[in-house]
Amino acid sequence: MAKKVWKAGTFIYPIPAVMVSCGDMEKSNIITVGWTGILNTDPAIVYISVRPERYSYNIIKEKKEFVINLTNEDLAFATDWCGVRSGSKFDKFSEMKLTKEKANYVEAPLIKEAPVSVECRVIEEKTYGTHTTFIAEVLCINADEKYIDENGSFDISKCDLIAYANGGYYALGEKIGKFGYSVEKKKKTKPDKVKVVPRNAKRKIKENKFLEKESRNAKLIPRPRKKANRINDKPIRRKKNKHSL
Ligand SMILES: Cc1cc2nc3c(=O)[nH]c(=O)nc-3n(C[C@H](O)[C@H](O)[C@H](O)COP(=O)(O)O)c2cc1C
Repeated sequence: MAKKVWKAGTFIYPIPAVMVSCGDMEKSNIITVGWTGILNTDPAIVYISVRPERYSYNIIKEKKEFVINLTNEDLAFATDWCGVRSGSKFDKFSEMKLTKEKANYVEAPLIKEAPVSVECRVIEEKTYGTHTTFIAEVLCINADEKYIDENGSFDISKCDLIAYANGGYYALGEKIGKFGYSVEKKKKTKPDKVKVVPRNAKRKIKENKFLEKESRNAKLIPRPRKKANRINDKPIRRKKNKHSL
């Protein structure tokens, strides 16, 4: 079937739906943001795009700081709620029973319940139309210890992260490959050791089998008992024959 052509839009899915915390420990807010992502690896530069009419907009513009909190299945409800209710009317932390945690570099609180919280400082703003894009450097990443194993590796598969696509929230499915798996060389399987069979092996096996059978049969036939040399279970002392040599 041919593809339908639609007018221009932003149909690039799936995307993360993150909870951005802003403000400070006293007066804070959470805004759900889908327009977010990575701009550069090193230095780590990320962005969030926020409409000026959002309550959070002025807070972020003023403070020039925010925290991107990743969301998981446990946070799906709060993620949606913080995306349809305004901080101008609600204290989103207390309404959603979320815990504020002090950040390392920014005044905005981390959301304790989030598996990962990324502390960001705004370095640039760009407005293209509906949204202002806050471009920010990453100051540090706070990863929940419960997903870190004894070797110090963060197991992202255990976070139950969610994605957003075209109006819906989705749980991430099974991991189906790892970076570069498409070009990875297949591990060679060791060939089975070849047994060298001596020429007369068959005959020997036959002989052994015969002997085995024989010895088994022999065991079945009761052996003639030795003459008892015990009386009432006491060993009999044979008298030495003086004349015997
Ligand atoms: C899944 C989802 C994604 C959203 N993404 C954005 C976004 O990228 N930018 C934005 O300005 N608003 C976004 N919104 C809407 C805001 O989160 C919403 O208007 C919120 O109530 C604003 O909160 P505030 O007024 O407390 O700042 C999103 C909402 C949802 C549910």
